[in-house]
Amino acid sequence: MTSTDANQRVLSGMRPTGRMHIANYHGALKNWVRLQHEYECFFFVADFHALTTHYQDPQDIEQATFDMVVDWLAAGLSPSACTMFVQSKVPEHAELHLLLSMITPVSWLERVPSYKDQQAKLNDRDLATYGFLGYPVLMSTDILMYRAGNVPVGVDQTAHVEITREIARRFNHIFGREPQFEENAEEAVKKMGRRASRLYRSARRDYLERGDEEALERARALLAEQQNLSIGDRERLFGYLEGSGRIILPEPQVLLTDTPNVPGLDGEKMSKSYDNVIRMREAPDVVEKQVLTMRTDPARVRRDDPGDPGDCPVFALHEVYSDDEVKTWAADGCRNASIGCVDCKRPLIDAINTEQAPFIERAEQFENNPDQVRAILLDGSEEARDHARQTLDEVKAAVGISYR
Ligand code: TRP
Ligand code: SF4
Repeated sequence: MTSTDANQRVLSGMRPTGRMHIANYHGALKNWVRLQHEYECFFFVADFHALTTHYQDPQDIEQATFDMVVDWLAAGLSPSACTMFVQSKVPEHAELHLLLSMITPVSWLERVPSYKDQQAKLNDRDLATYGFLGYPVLMSTDILMYRAGNVPVGVDQTAHVEITREIARRFNHIFGREPQFEENAEEAVKKMGRRASRLYRSARRDYLERGDEEALERARALLAEQQNLSIGDRERLFGYLEGSGRIILPEPQVLLTDTPNVPGLDGEKMSKSYDNVIRMREAPDVVEKQVLTMRTDPARVRRDDPGDPGDCPVFALHEVYSDDEVKTWAADGCRNASIGCVDCKRPLIDAINTEQAPFIERAEQFENNPDQVRAILLDGSEEARDHARQTLDEVKAAVGISYR
């Protein structure tokens, strides 16, 4: 695994919050299902993360993990297309977290926006803990452990990916330097053979002298193809491209997931704690009841009062679920009061239930056979562990504690 393969790798995680709702699905999971066919994907249950804020109610974590992963499988994540695992089943996360914590300035952590925000928001909990302050280090660990180049998250998480980049850069800067870096790098260039060495050198020059990003990409791709470079030489050559030192932990990028607005039944943000959710895999008749009781534009008191779709959460769901024709029909019908709210809701109910039908079907086998879900997570965790061990070996060697 090298820095270029990192471009092909995706990692993302979710806290174990139990049964998911359709806003979770449209905001993240749906995107994961697509990505699993385009990248080498690692998706994990962030159970250590749950403890950073909810350490006082640990008894919920295992059940919540199970329920959430059934939803992942129901949505179409497949163990043959991606690796699904549980963070605490890969104890290397704890070890790398410790090592990264040694070089992470406290001021960086205090500056992360979610630090103060969450403390204020979850004010019924004592979050003045060491673990909570270190939460971005834990998230950085998750990403850097798998050398994932791409991290699909919503905007609320981009600051965490940014600090991950800073931590990686600082780590590489401190531990990627070696006394004879230039000489070692030049030796490594020669090992690539005449043609590749020449291409590497000219691309490096184009990048360093003219900032030619394409040349940088070309050189990285070239390095990825090289069969007979050691890991150490490869890291040197990646680092040498940018002039610094070895790149032990590549910097990740955000793959921004655009999060559609999926309001809850009362028009507020859909959230379990507001009790306003439509759950994934909900029974069709329950979905029907829920949508029929959903809040609409308060201006439409009577059937012939015109309304404004912009003021109606039902219409926001049409934006997510309906095609242009239905949307136009609903919007026009609302504005000129030619349809009633129940009419407007009907096609939406059908669309939600149609989307969910395959989820319900897929979930059945997993709900009846929880051992199968456990096996998927255990296998995935073993697989993740192989990658984690490799990274950790290199990190420990760089830090000077490999005792080989
Ligand atoms: N912090 C994320 C959240 O609360 C979950 C998470 C943990 C994560 N580690 C991650 C997401 C690594 C992406 C990559 O939603
Ligand atoms: Fe909302 Fe549709 Fe009723 Fe208009 S007609 S208020 S968009 S539910």
